[in-house]
Amino acid sequence: KKINIAVVGATGMVGRNFLQVLEDRDFPFDNLYCFASERSAGQILTCKGKEYVVEPLNEQSFDRDIQIALFSAGGDTSLKYSPIAASKGVIVVDNSSAFRMDPEVPLVVPEVNPEALENHKNIIANPNCSTIQAVVALKPLYDKYGIERVVYSTYQAVSGSGVKGMTDLEEGLKGNHLKKAYPHPIAGNCLPQIDVFLDNGYTKEEMKMIDESKKIMNDQSLRITATTVRVPIFYSHSESINVELKKPFEVEDVKALFASSPGIVLQDDPANSVYPLASEAAGKDLVYVGRVRRDFSVENGLNLWVVADNTRKGAATNAVQIAELLVNRF
Ligand code: A2P
Repeated sequence: KKINIAVVGATGMVGRNFLQVLEDRDFPFDNLYCFASERSAGQILTCKGKEYVVEPLNEQSFDRDIQIALFSAGGDTSLKYSPIAASKGVIVVDNSSAFRMDPEVPLVVPEVNPEALENHKNIIANPNCSTIQAVVALKPLYDKYGIERVVYSTYQAVSGSGVKGMTDLEEGLKGNHLKKAYPHPIAGNCLPQIDVFLDNGYTKEEMKMIDESKKIMNDQSLRITATTVRVPIFYSHSESINVELKKPFEVEDVKALFASSPGIVLQDDPANSVYPLASEAAGKDLVYVGRVRRDFSVENGLNLWVVADNTRKGAATNAVQIAELLVNRF
């Protein structure tokens, strides 16, 4: 069977990563269609050594033989065009937040809940970047020990805000403090606000981490809280994760568990200052876990430091991995 892929938002930060990851993972496709707004029509993008002309997205875009569409063109574009694509038999993997909490839509991290793909109705949601790396680390703990409660504290890169965030930091480092992406200068700062504030005092990003983690782990009884912070880093989100397990554990067993879990690299040698670093995770597809240690302040408490490239595993790579699972079922 032919596999034709569409990338919607192909000129954007995540869209370009879709093309790069399709190439890096040698994803098997016959044809590739690149869509963006009118503004980018005619632009040339390359993937696996071939050139593709960017087409303006419209209601007829999916009247072709397309099996899978990877969307990252913002929530409004997803809300409008994903149902059109889905109604024409195209399976949409959507990187926006538009459908993530829709009970009809699977929210999938391949290492964690591939079984959720079973009942899709042609739209599958790719989770938030900070959620993806967190649940990859939590899943083996959940399966072996059970999880009582989680405290997330994040240190998130500006690439998560697209080109505007990158520009604010680049210019800020030269002393030119812009506020295109954030309400304050990002260079020299930690901003405890990602996205807008909600009535409960949390930001939208914090509630995404909480709600999406419960949906992906398929456990609404999990107790989770989060503080999400933007830091002056270009690529990779770092996360301090404090976990209360249900059962007792040995730290060495937990380390061995991470070392043998899919998608995870254990980097934990404090004596030699070895632990996950944003700079080293950048450009990679895996989730790095380290600083594994007991939290003495509670029963069965554990502390972790978890790092991954937010534009790769946190976005494009996870979506392409979902597409790989879909293709295996064709
Ligand atoms: P364009 O480059 O033509 O504006 P980012 O998240 O990095 O800002 O990228 C957003 C992506 O979504 C870009 O590829 C952008 O295309 C695309 N996009 C934005 N609005 C639309 C739209 N209404 N229809 C199709 N693509 C869109």
